[in-house]
Amino acid sequence: MENIYASSLLFVMLFIATFTIQLANATVPAIYIFGDSTADVGTNTYIPGSTARADFPFNGVDFTHSRPTGRFSNGLNSADFLAKLMGFKRSPQPYLFLLSLPSGLKRHKHRGVNFASGGAGLLDVTNEAMKVVSMTKQIEQFIIVRNNRVAITGPNETETMLSKSLFCISVGSNDIFGYFSSNRTIPPDLFIANLMRQYEAYIKTLYNFGARKFGIISIPPIGCCPAQKLFNATGGCLEGMNDFARAFHFALDNLLRKISSELPETKYSLGNSYEMTINVIQNPAPFNFKDVETACCGAGRLNAETPCNRTANLCANRNEYLFWDLFHPTQNASQLAAVTLYDGPTKFVTPINFRQLAEDN
Ligand SMILES: *[C@@H]1O[C@H](CO)[C@@H](O)[C@H](O)[C@H]1NC(C)=O
Ligand SMILES: *[C@@H]1O[C@H](CO)[C@@H](O)[C@H](O)[C@H]1NC(C)=O
Ligand SMILES: *[C@@H]1O[C@H](CO)[C@@H](O)[C@H](O)[C@H]1NC(C)=O
Ligand SMILES: *[C@@H]1O[C@H](CO)[C@@H](O)[C@H](O)[C@H]1NC(C)=O
Ligand SMILES: *[C@@H]1O[C@H](CO)[C@@H](O)[C@H](O)[C@H]1NC(C)=O
Repeated sequence: MENIYASSLLFVMLFIATFTIQLANATVPAIYIFGDSTADVGTNTYIPGSTARADFPFNGVDFTHSRPTGRFSNGLNSADFLAKLMGFKRSPQPYLFLLSLPSGLKRHKHRGVNFASGGAGLLDVTNEAMKVVSMTKQIEQFIIVRNNRVAITGPNETETMLSKSLFCISVGSNDIFGYFSSNRTIPPDLFIANLMRQYEAYIKTLYNFGARKFGIISIPPIGCCPAQKLFNATGGCLEGMNDFARAFHFALDNLLRKISSELPETKYSLGNSYEMTINVIQNPAPFNFKDVETACCGAGRLNAETPCNRTANLCANRNEYLFWDLFHPTQNASQLAAVTLYDGPTKFVTPINFRQLAEDN
């Protein structure tokens, strides 16, 4: 009897301690994450027939028990590290995973949701054939989550909670890959304008449903990923793609200035993935990278002619590589990116960094 009492008291005390620590540490009530494989923590694993997947080895080789989690990484990705930096014990879980639980979305404790889906783009048609969750669909899923919070905690509490929460979006590379592999009948500037029109609509919809703090991550120098470098005979980056990535960032910067002047109470950070990554590629030594050209997991030239899977070549020293596979960064590179977004200078994240965005009331 006494034992039961003692252990349940201990349990209650532990519970309170954990709960208090969580509340004290997290700088925002919840994080909602949208976008593509740079932020996907397992979404596509729950889509029947999706071909954009990473839920098999050697993905996850550096995760606990070398478990493949659906992340396109040897371990964690930037969405995970950002959540940790914001004071959360773990990354928000995929919407489709939560739906698969018996309790579904109806849990009182709520720290956010990850909607990101590998392969997704700003355009609904991008990688549609691979069965990914488009941005349009991701936003619809968020609205379902929001309505659920309204049902559980009421409209006022939900509104306050959402207004303080972080809405993180990392998307765009797949649209540009799609543009380059199609016949490019649209001129580049018009194509980017189309992408920005979509981006604006997504942000405004989120705003209408309560979002106020936006952490936006633009696209890296995609012409330098091993998959694209294969197409440059002299071994350099594909400059045409990098030009596109810079133009995308420039347009997104202008869009966010415009949106924040139009929508009251909006705050944002824009992470310049291009600058962050090119900075490492041009000068890898201070960051402890020894290889910024080849994929750690893959096969063929640059280890990038095939995707990563259990019969691919796996590098031994993962921390020395910038690229995990033909497209994606290693866990180590993702951590560096997250730390830079969170605490970095205006050269990499403007007008404020993610820490300032999170702590701003
Ligand atoms: C919710 O907010 C509205 C307007 O701010 C207020 O009139 C109402 O009393 C609030 N409801 C609750 C349950 O606090
Ligand atoms: C591009 O054009 C070629 C012929 O001009 C056609 O065979 C191909 O299907 C087109 N590809 C796309 C993605 O539209
Ligand atoms: C290929 O890389 C070289 C640098 O090695 C660069 O000068 C050239 O513009 C690149 N070619 C293309 C098509 O991007
Ligand atoms: C790994 O990928 C290669 C190339 O795409 C393929 O030939 C091979 O069958 C794959 N191996 C497994 C175990 O799926
Ligand atoms: C990144 O690599 C460095 C050494 O190069 C190591 O100290 C650090 O723990 C690594 N971080 C992650 C998250 O892998």
